[in-house]
Amino acid sequence: AQQLPAPITSASKLQSQKHQLYLMKDGESSRGHGVVVGFLKVGYKKLFLLDRNGVHIEVEPLCVLDFYVSELLQRHGYGLELFNFMLQHQNVEPVLMAYDRPSNKLLAFLAKHYSLMQSVPQS
Ligand code: ACO
Repeated sequence: AQQLPAPITSASKLQSQKHQLYLMKDGESSRGHGVVVGFLKVGYKKLFLLDRNGVHIEVEPLCVLDFYVSELLQRHGYGLELFNFMLQHQNVEPVLMAYDRPSNKLLAFLAKHYSLMQSVPQS
C-alpha cells in the first residue's frame, strides 16, 4: 500500500518486539474460515522529538507503527473501529500518540475523526 521495500510487521518480528497488534477479522467470510479486515500495530518507543519551537525533547509515547485496512474495505469505518478499540484498550488519547511516517491517508483519517490537523514533522 505504501511501496515500502519490505514488510514491517511479521509474526517473527512481533515475537522479538514488545509491540501490540490489534487484528480485525470477518469470521464468516471465506466459507467460515474468516478473513482479516485490517490491523493496527502500536508500541512504546523512546524518541528524541522536536517540539513546536524546534527544541529537542525526550519522550516515550505510544506510537502508531503500522495501520492497514484491506484495500476493498477502506473508507467503510473499519479503521475507525479498530483505532477506537485500541484507544480504549490502551486508555490513551490520539493527541498524545506519535505517528511513525504517517501516510496521506492516515493524516486524512486523523484529521477527520480526531480533528488532528497540526503535526510536528520529525527528521
Ligand atoms: N484517500 C484519502 N483519505 C482516506 C483514504 C483515501 N484513499 N482512505 C481513508 N481515508 C481517510 C479519510 O479521512 C476517510 O474519510 P472520507 O472517506 O470521508 O474522506 C477516512 O480515512 C475513513 O475512515 P475509515 O473508513 O474509518 O478508515 P479506513 O478503514 O479506510 O482506515 C487507513 C484508514 C488504515 C489509513 C486505511 O485507509 C489504509 O489502510 N490505508 C492504506 C495504508 C496506509 O496508508 N496506512 C497508514 C500508514 S502510516 C502508519 O501506519 C503509521
